[in-house]
Amino acid sequence: MTTGAIKDPTYRRSGVRSLTQLLDPEVLANPYPLFQLLREEDPVHWDPYLHAWVVTRYEDVMEVLHRFSADRTPTPEHLAQIGLGELAPIAQVMVKQMLFLDPPAHTRIRRLASYAFTPGRVAVLRDHIRDIVGSLIDGVARNGRMDVIGDLAEPLPYTVTAEMLGVPVQDAPQLKAWSQDFAEMLGNFQHNPERAPRVRRSVEEMTRYFQSAIRQIERQPREGLIHSFLTAELDGDRYSEEEVIANTIVTMVGGQETTTNLIGNGVLTLLRKPDELARLRADFSLIPSTIEEILRYEPPSQHTARLAPHNLEMRGRKIAKRQAVIAVMAAGNRDPERFPDPDRFDITRKDNRHLSFGWAAHFCFGAALARIEGQVTLEEMLRRLPNWALDAKPLQWRTNLGLRGLTSLDINFVSSVH
Ligand code: HEM
Repeated sequence: MTTGAIKDPTYRRSGVRSLTQLLDPEVLANPYPLFQLLREEDPVHWDPYLHAWVVTRYEDVMEVLHRFSADRTPTPEHLAQIGLGELAPIAQVMVKQMLFLDPPAHTRIRRLASYAFTPGRVAVLRDHIRDIVGSLIDGVARNGRMDVIGDLAEPLPYTVTAEMLGVPVQDAPQLKAWSQDFAEMLGNFQHNPERAPRVRRSVEEMTRYFQSAIRQIERQPREGLIHSFLTAELDGDRYSEEEVIANTIVTMVGGQETTTNLIGNGVLTLLRKPDELARLRADFSLIPSTIEEILRYEPPSQHTARLAPHNLEMRGRKIAKRQAVIAVMAAGNRDPERFPDPDRFDITRKDNRHLSFGWAAHFCFGAALARIEGQVTLEEMLRRLPNWALDAKPLQWRTNLGLRGLTSLDINFVSSVH
């Protein structure tokens, strides 16, 4: 098991600090010592390889998420100028997604979206989530072993996502495959020319899929987010069809890898901290605070990016207008100035306002749903699968540096199903 006891990673030897060091599997397996060095030595750090600032203290991450510009998608015209015209169809969709908009465009899209995704709709999904988790556990319980990722943490969010959108559940694995391609691009810094054609194809296929889903929902209205996006109206304002598709895609992608990582990283952390796992087994009322602590301690989405809105100074560093700034939520979450004993995993931690769902205007649109998925999954796993143990097999982290999670997580357990 890789517990992260890094003896001499390259960044310590070379003295160079860069988030590209996450490409080293050993660093990705435990990125927190790198984040700690950055936070302590150079909290507003110029990353020489990414040509971006990297911000690692809690207060600064909040500041960046609150005040900096999210409008960071290059326009199709700009991409053509720099010879990346093949990415234009992807950019055309991204420039309409709420994640990449500033006010007032963001405020408009988000207001319409909140109107469509009400607490009532989340509550309806809650009932389904327990059934879905139950049937996924039924499928493996008698085996005495499972791959937490492949058997549960992946199929749960893709099934929930299909229900949330209001598309046939049998299409869910296809939606998942498209989302994964899109998420690969969102989570990684480096432009990968080999990946681009696949992401482009996925975006084109998703667009066609949702165009036809819209036609179908218009003919035969079907409850779900797409229907709500199509009909949401505030003061005479409505989404265009392109906006419906772009924001359906971002909502679909936003809810998958992240939730998979929450469940996978959470089960792994509990297995690594048997005392906390025993405490939780003895008292299920600790499940909500456990999910918050997992989110803080092993964030499913580790960092995000913004652009400086104007020339400014942060901790004595001069940041030029439109320079990229990477806000590392995973580092802010372990800032000792904000969280006492931050490297300790404590399922009863109080005042746990972590940054894992972001902050301010772009605060995760699906946080309530993600929390329910995490809590219900944990509860059902604990209730029905006693004595978890990790299989002796090396852990492999996916090559997504931002949406950090495992490719598989094989565990065995004693089944309570007879
Ligand atoms: C554990 C699960 C999740 C985590 C850790 C997570 C994390 C995040 C983070 C960090 C942001 C802010 C990004 C930024 O400011 O640049 C965000 C935004 C967003 N999330 Fe989530 N998310 C999760 C689940 C979900 C789910 C289930 C949905 C879908 C219902 C969703 C949809 C979105 C959307 C649409 C945005 C963009 C909001 C905006 O720009 O206004 N997320 N999420």
